Amino acid sequence: MVLISPVQGQVKQGVYVITLDNPPVNAISISVRRGLISAVNDFEQSNAQVAVLVGSNGTFIAGADIHEFARTSDGPVLLDVVRVIENCKKPIVAALQGAVLGGGLEVALACDARIAHVDTVIGLPEVSLGIIPGAGGTQLLPRRIGISRAIDIICGAQRLSAEEAKHLRLVDSVVCSDILVAANLFARNIEHKSSVRDELVPNEDPALIDQAINRYTKLGRCRPAIAKAIDLIQAAARLPIEEGLVLESAAFLELRKSQEAQALRHLFFAEKTCRKPPQTKEVAPIPINTVCVIGAGTMGTGIAICLLDAEFSVMLLEQDKEALDKGEERIFSHYQKQVETGKLSPVEASKCLSHLLCSLNWEELAKADLVIEAVYEDMLVKQDVFKKIDQFANPNAILATNTSYLSVDKIALATTRPKRVIGLHFFSPANVMKLLEIVNAKQTCLETLHAVIAFGNRLNKYPVVTKDSFGFIGNRIYNAYRTQCEFMLEDGAWPEEVDAALVDFGMAMGPFTVADLSGLDIAWRMRKTQRKNQETRYVDILDTLCELGRFGRKTSAGYYDYTNGKKQANTSELVRQIIENASQRRRIKRRTLNSKHIQNRALLSMVNEAALLMREGVAQRASDIDVVFVHGYGFPRWQGGPVFWARQQDRQQLQSDIAGLAEHGGNSFVLADISILFESSP
Ligand code: CAA
Repeated sequence: MVLISPVQGQVKQGVYVITLDNPPVNAISISVRRGLISAVNDFEQSNAQVAVLVGSNGTFIAGADIHEFARTSDGPVLLDVVRVIENCKKPIVAALQGAVLGGGLEVALACDARIAHVDTVIGLPEVSLGIIPGAGGTQLLPRRIGISRAIDIICGAQRLSAEEAKHLRLVDSVVCSDILVAANLFARNIEHKSSVRDELVPNEDPALIDQAINRYTKLGRCRPAIAKAIDLIQAAARLPIEEGLVLESAAFLELRKSQEAQALRHLFFAEKTCRKPPQTKEVAPIPINTVCVIGAGTMGTGIAICLLDAEFSVMLLEQDKEALDKGEERIFSHYQKQVETGKLSPVEASKCLSHLLCSLNWEELAKADLVIEAVYEDMLVKQDVFKKIDQFANPNAILATNTSYLSVDKIALATTRPKRVIGLHFFSPANVMKLLEIVNAKQTCLETLHAVIAFGNRLNKYPVVTKDSFGFIGNRIYNAYRTQCEFMLEDGAWPEEVDAALVDFGMAMGPFTVADLSGLDIAWRMRKTQRKNQETRYVDILDTLCELGRFGRKTSAGYYDYTNGKKQANTSELVRQIIENASQRRRIKRRTLNSKHIQNRALLSMVNEAALLMREGVAQRASDIDVVFVHGYGFPRWQGGPVFWARQQDRQQLQSDIAGLAEHGGNSFVLADISILFESSP
């Protein structure tokens, strides 16, 4: 079998055109690296005086092939390719379009000139994969644009437009026409080599550099790749380029095998996978253009804003005029703030708002392709609303309920079209949070599911599909985690110790800070609806706090006392007393729990529940659970998610540690066989 190289070279009208074709995004795999070196050598031998390097598939190069990072690759590395391009005696012009990311930008910077289509996206996003640019990015970029801007672009994983890149002199020209034709014309006027590596890092006010460093190291939560990138970018001003490149290569190889980089790679693919619909037969698409949101509360208006941002036509429907006016006001003031803070131009904000219609008239519902109910979290209320929606909505419309716990199957039964009913669990604030749980109920048809996954993608969210089951994926696991943290209060820890240990692990907030922020009364109301049996270890601290009117931040008191405009959380002696009383009632001798112990119990409880819901088929893939926790619950990205964390542990030890949880959990603890988390792929 003859293998065709993904890189081809051909002289066309006196210009040597090197075409890179490695779908879908022309990632630089080993065969691309070999192909590029061979094509540049061929060009040197040819009669052509100038070459153009262009990518097929509407894109230049999206970087190194991330699949290869887990393997040790032989053959030339990307830096070898960069050197061959730089050392080529004749000039090479990079014709940029689509993605010019990571190694793609490094290859482009090695060329003698860059011409970009106006839609090109340019950047060095390696730190988001836990690594640094490994083929000269940290040394070449500061030579061209200065240290502070290089820190911003590399450490902030910024993606620049072609115009921004031109402004920074990263590209020489921006065109709206066919990039190959434009690059060919451009190349004909190039006579000399011109190398970024020969430039000197421009002088800069040291204060600007310090400010840039502070932006990425503040709060002391700077990740290793960022720290390394900052060192190397600064070294570019001190060291000859070859010395800088040697340091960069060594750091790249070291970081690439780190656990953090593995976690981030796992998430890179998990995030792509969750966006794909189930592989089945062809499914007739249901277009969604007009969406009606029912309920103008905080959730309803947040959902409306994210729909407006994604350029849907939106109807906000209420039965109560005052509630509708308040909702409308909230949406307007959101866009006003976006303009005031420079996030949107007045024209952009007005464009979003022009797609909004606020109404009390339920007959408007007939125009919607998708109806999203976002009313009070109560089964009877929701069933009533669905009866009414069913009456007014177009017969083909998809009807979605925004619920975090309730059975979508039961809500669907209130309608005459359960196959068109689905759950959409948005996370608050809905216009900010990237997670969307899609609840595929028993009778939901495949067309509805596919349409809603496409809808989630258009909202630029991670649409994770879950079966209809109490708490779906996220709240089911979060409940197990929070319950374990409550056990630890009774066993001897204070809320601030539990919170600090979990923040130390990397969680955005500890569970008791989260509870105070979201309101203890919400959890209290739900607890009252759940039956408790004698066997269950039930911690009633939260109920006691609520009975005292301590609902969290909104009442300036919850697990903590709040001062300074509810911002400062302080230890409460009263809460300590309540916790001690709870321990006494259960006859527990309180003991100190160290940070590691707290972290382990909390994580083990998540892993146990994750394995249970994989076995029950609530989650389709183990990697979906990680996407849910990273994007919905503040799980640290660099730890990869609870399943990734579990897979890093010794499997037998983990299973036995989880069995140990039973001793804290009472007779109702259901022990999972965790092998499913190790064996399922991804
Ligand atoms: N390596 C391997 N596969 C990649 C890839 C890469 N660098 N970038 C994207 N892909 C794959 C995706 O996994 C996806 O594959 P499946 O269809 O099998 O799921 C496919 O390409 C399409 O990707 P998207 O669904 O993300 O398509 P999009 O059009 O929405 O976005 C993109 C395209 C902007 C290129 C986006 O995929 C992206 O940002 N990719 C990552 C770019 C990146 O991080 N590059 C740096 C790599 S590290 C590096 O380059 C270091 C070095 O040089 C030494």
